[in-house]
Amino acid sequence: MPDRLLALMRLFSTYIFILFVLFTSCNNSSEIDKKTDNLTEFPNDFHTYSNVEEIRTTHLHLDLEINFENKTIYGIARHTMSDNKADTAIFDIKKLEISRVTVGKDNETETDFVIGEPDELLGRPLSVKIKPGTKYINIYYQTTEETEALDWLPAELTTGKKHPFVYTQGQAILTRSWIPLQDTPLNRISYSADVKVPAELMAVMSATNPQAKSEDGSYHFKMDQKIPSYLIALAVGDLTYTKLGNNSGVYSEPELAEACAYEFVDLPKMISAAEKLYGKYRWEQFDVIVLPYSFPFGGMENPRLTFANPTLLAGDRSLVTVIAHELAHSWSGNLVTNATWDDFWLNEGFTVYFETRIMEELYGKDVADIHRVIQRQELDLALEDMENGDHPEDTQLKLHLEERNPDDGMTDIAYNKGAYFLRTIEAAVGRKKFDEFLKNYFNSHAFETITTEDFVSYLRKELFEPNNIEFNTDEWIYQPGIPENCAVITSDRLDQMAQLAEQVNNGEDIFQGELKDLKREDFTTQEWQAFVRALSPEVKPENLALLDEHLKFSQEANPVLKSEWYQLCIKVGYDAAKPFMAEHLNKIGRRWLIEGIYRELAESDNPQDLIWAREVFESAKNNYHYISRSTVQEILYPEK
Ligand code: BES
Ligand code: ZN
Repeated sequence: MPDRLLALMRLFSTYIFILFVLFTSCNNSSEIDKKTDNLTEFPNDFHTYSNVEEIRTTHLHLDLEINFENKTIYGIARHTMSDNKADTAIFDIKKLEISRVTVGKDNETETDFVIGEPDELLGRPLSVKIKPGTKYINIYYQTTEETEALDWLPAELTTGKKHPFVYTQGQAILTRSWIPLQDTPLNRISYSADVKVPAELMAVMSATNPQAKSEDGSYHFKMDQKIPSYLIALAVGDLTYTKLGNNSGVYSEPELAEACAYEFVDLPKMISAAEKLYGKYRWEQFDVIVLPYSFPFGGMENPRLTFANPTLLAGDRSLVTVIAHELAHSWSGNLVTNATWDDFWLNEGFTVYFETRIMEELYGKDVADIHRVIQRQELDLALEDMENGDHPEDTQLKLHLEERNPDDGMTDIAYNKGAYFLRTIEAAVGRKKFDEFLKNYFNSHAFETITTEDFVSYLRKELFEPNNIEFNTDEWIYQPGIPENCAVITSDRLDQMAQLAEQVNNGEDIFQGELKDLKREDFTTQEWQAFVRALSPEVKPENLALLDEHLKFSQEANPVLKSEWYQLCIKVGYDAAKPFMAEHLNKIGRRWLIEGIYRELAESDNPQDLIWAREVFESAKNNYHYISRSTVQEILYPEK
């Protein structure tokens, strides 16, 4: 009986609380004018339910138990809130189970909460009833099988094949699927964590990290600097640490340690080059962790610990631009952060610009220009697709992603149009002034978030006005396509490769005469990449067979080159590449290296290709993270 009474009382108080939430939310609009004086000025982030403009987390402490048997994280998210006058704190959650919410630090008391209806994209709002002035909110939760940020790998999918592995991917709005929090870049928080893992594994986070396993699988982490929620990250596996420089090194499974040390040997030099360009590295330590093959990106700039894909271990250091890129994010993105996902180009465009500057410092202008030209080719290909697609307006730098997945903004526009915008400004004002400007930009906005509009007014005030420069900034940012004044960068080395490809396109056998001994090793990955791009889809399968015979592209070791080659093979109908293609698609989960291949297969004139693609995907999909799996799913089964 008392139980039923208790249940009734609970029901009643929840009912009152719902009324109260409804009441306060209806009331908001009429109150808003009176309230704005007290609010910090936050722009609108369409991708969060949280009410950060009223009450926000300043510090988050996580108590986590990582359970590999159930593939579940059992957690308590302990939020320290800013001084507040609010009576509700709204957090983002997605596919999480919330068991209880308490307030208080040493003396916790239960409080009521309401979970709103689920939205496929945003998840659900978790509204917690609080008294004005409440400082501590503790959310007890567990992840579910559907938790999107997490990738649980059985031992077979690791290199060592002895121990399981798990890692998180937060950007853009997946952190809410493994931690209940205010999941918006508008708010910056510090965090700490106590994490318990099986004793034979090591845990690492985007925070202070251990360099050896603990005895009992307990780890403590601290990230004292304020970061946006998408940068909270965790990885657990059989890890070992290899030091590369005084504040840098690489975590990997022991089996890969040597390969990592070889591939990333230039990391300390990259850090010095970056510091020379735009000021001191502010995060003390810069480590990289090489994850399993399912990791959906080349790299992810989690602060103090960049997450990297093992496909970077090409054996010839040819893909280290990704490391330069993630390092550059320590300034653009992590130090100065896009305020909303509509401003994503502020993260990625600056980073691509900066990444190629690091490459130039280390390997010379020639090499950097090769990358710049390749980026321009990618941009042109993307533009063509997008102009004919559903959202031609996405070719603007400033996006409008309300009610859309922020992932839709992850295109060559943010990355390469963004970088070319900055290169065009550089050409207009001169490198010296531009570098000075960027350095000041990073320093004056350190640990802040910024909108495109804020950046534009800073740019005008600090760079264009003092130098009397007229610049079509609005056209670059608010208009589709590429403005006429876009900086032009060329590369003789790539031009030569295009000429060689032209010979193949004309049906010549390039291995006759002078080039009879031409080998893969004669040119770099990027040069061959330009060669493959310049081959016409009109060439005959026999032409590709001939190239394969001499250069072995289908069996190529470099996954970037291989991925472009396979796309051409599909267009041409050169089926001999298929077994190697299947191997590639089964092994690699990095979206950029598989998406294009699946797309070609889906769009192929040969209906067998789609059938084949679906077969391969069915066997490969368990080797992919949710992010890549859902992208490929949409390509192969668009109606679902
Ligand atoms: N931050 C991105 C990855 C990302 C973007 C994840 C948006 C989720 C949402 C990362 O820095 C990145 O750009 N990676 C690229 C590197 C490349 C451009 C050198 C990648 O993974 O290919
Ligand atoms: Zn990036």
